[in-house]
Amino acid sequence: MSKTRIAPSILAADFGNLQRDVEMVNHSEADWFHLDVMDGVFVPNISYGMPIIKTIAKHATKTLDAHLMIVDPDRYIKTFADLGMDYLTVHFEACNHLHRTIQAIKNEGMKAGVALNPHTNVMQLEDTIQDIDLALVMSVNPGFGGQSFIENTYSKVEKLKEMILRKNSSAMIQVDGGVTNKNAKKLVEAGADVLVAGSYVFKSPNPDNTIKDLKNLLK
Ligand code: DX5
Ligand code: ZN
Repeated sequence: MSKTRIAPSILAADFGNLQRDVEMVNHSEADWFHLDVMDGVFVPNISYGMPIIKTIAKHATKTLDAHLMIVDPDRYIKTFADLGMDYLTVHFEACNHLHRTIQAIKNEGMKAGVALNPHTNVMQLEDTIQDIDLALVMSVNPGFGGQSFIENTYSKVEKLKEMILRKNSSAMIQVDGGVTNKNAKKLVEAGADVLVAGSYVFKSPNPDNTIKDLKNLLK
């Protein structure tokens, strides 16, 4: 379990002190930066766009993991590559030609991720799991930070892990939404490789320590 990655979600950071919060993640035991992009169409909220991502990328020294909650993400694949993203995740529900989108992300030199809403069966990834680097299981309905974790996520992660092993895929499983010290261990036992944590980290009195505690819990 020691290889579990922690990806703090910048959505919960203090945007008035963005550089400070990015530096905190740089110096912490966290592994990735999780960047949530929302368009107000695919999800009922708008988060932040290119100028903020550019600022984050300028200061960040760790893997940049962008989670696009937008319709027709193909339009921006090149833009996100130019911004320096390492992982680009699109929603299964937002892509008419998912296979083509995955190839386009990889052709731009990024790792390709596919996210599933809570209502989407993990078996929908049966025919793409060998092509992707990351499968993101949403454990809340996307659009907002600070929501409660949906318990059905454990069984989705287990089923996905089983599929990944059966298909001999090297995809990692990421879980996003409502992650805390209460569910982290059980998620990793179910098969999760990357845990996104927003509010739990940034709204805690000492985010740096919270990340450390989460890592220790998963050792
Ligand atoms: C939700 C986003 C999440 C969010 C997680 O739509 O995809 O990444 O920032 O925030 P918490 O950890 O507060 O649920
Ligand atoms: Zn996210």
